[in-house]
Amino acid sequence: MPQLRSVVLGVGAYLPQKTLTNDELAKLVDTSDAWIVQRTGIKERHIAAEGETTSMLGEMAARDALANAGIAADDIDLIVVATSTPDWTFPSTATQIQAALGITHGVAFDLQAVCSGFVFAVATAEKFLRSGSHKRALVIGAETFSRIIDWTDRTTCVLFGDGAGAMVLEAQPSQGGADERGVLTTHLRSDGRHRAKLHVDGGPSATQTVGHLRMEGKEVFRFAVGQVTDVVKDAFAATGLTPEDLDWFVPHQANRRIIDMSAQKLGIAPEKTIATVHLHGNTSAASVPLALAVASADGRIKRGDLVMLEAVGGGFTWGSALIRW
Ligand code: UT7
Repeated sequence: MPQLRSVVLGVGAYLPQKTLTNDELAKLVDTSDAWIVQRTGIKERHIAAEGETTSMLGEMAARDALANAGIAADDIDLIVVATSTPDWTFPSTATQIQAALGITHGVAFDLQAVCSGFVFAVATAEKFLRSGSHKRALVIGAETFSRIIDWTDRTTCVLFGDGAGAMVLEAQPSQGGADERGVLTTHLRSDGRHRAKLHVDGGPSATQTVGHLRMEGKEVFRFAVGQVTDVVKDAFAATGLTPEDLDWFVPHQANRRIIDMSAQKLGIAPEKTIATVHLHGNTSAASVPLALAVASADGRIKRGDLVMLEAVGGGFTWGSALIRW
C-alpha cells in the first residue's frame, strides 16, 4: 500500500576551528595522551570560540547539509534540534537556527535526550514526515559541552568536545519495502532511575545555575555495552533484517572501546563500523551526524546502503534508527 517514508537527502557537519589535543590537556590536568588513547581512542576535540554558541554550530552544519542535499533553506518546514547545551534556557536553539537560516514558515523546536538526542530527533522528525503534516525536515545535533565541563576533573574533561551535525529528510511515497530508501524503523527507550550516573549538577529550576557534567564512567560504560543492544535487536526484529544485511553501523561516538564491544556483541563485523571519535571526542547529540557526514563524504556510505544508527546517553536514554540510505 502506498505510504510516506522519510528519505535522507543529505548530511552535513561543522566543527569549531580550535582544537585541543591530548598533550595540551595533559598540561591542564593529571593525564596523558597514552591514557586517553588507550581508554577512549580520542586524539583531539574541538572547542567553540568565545561567543560561538550551539545555534551557530548548528546553523553551519545545517547549511552544509542543505548544500549536500541540493535544496534551499526555504524548502524546509520542520527543524528538530537535539541539544543539552542550548544557547539560552529559552527560546529554543531550533528557533535561533530557523531565524539564522531566514526561514519564517513551518516549525522549529528542541528535543533533549543528551547523547541519544540525534536518534530521538530522527525518530521524531520521521513521524512528522510520515504523517504527511510536513514535507522536509532539518534534523540537527549541536552541542557546546565545553561550557558544562569541569575543566579540573580529569575523569570527564578529556572525553568531551563541541560540534554539530545535520541531516535533511524528505517525505517520499513508498510501497513499504525494506529495499526502498528511507527510515525503515526507529526504537527509543529511557529509564530515569539512572540520573545520578550521568547528569549536570545545575539547572534553572533546581539551582538557578548552568552546572557541570558529572559522571560515574564505569557505570555508564557497563550500561552502554550491556543494555543498549536491545534497541538494535528490536530494529532487526521489526524489519526481518539481520546484522549480515547491514552495510554500516554508526553508533554514538563516546569511546572507541564501547563502539567496538557493542559491535562485537551484536555480531556486526568491525569493518562495517564507523568510528570518528578520535577526531572530535564525545560531542553528545552531534556525534552520530558527525560520523555520518564523514562516512558519507569519504564515499563509504552510499545510496541504497543499510545503515544502523544507535546511541545512549544521560537519563538513561537510548535508541536506534535503521535507514536505507
Ligand atoms: O555519551 C555517554 C557518556 N559517557 C560515556 O560513554 C563514557 C563511559 N565511560 C567510559 O568511557 C570509561 O569508563 C572512561 C573512559 C570514563 C574511564 O575508563 P575506565 O577504563 O573505566 O577507567 P576507570 O574509571 O576505571 O579509571 C582507571 C584509572 C583510575 O585510577 P585508579 O583508581 O586505578 O588509580 C582513574 O583515577 O584511571 C584513572 N583516570 C585517569 N588517569 C589518567 C581516570 N581518568 C583519567 C585520566 N587520565 N583522564
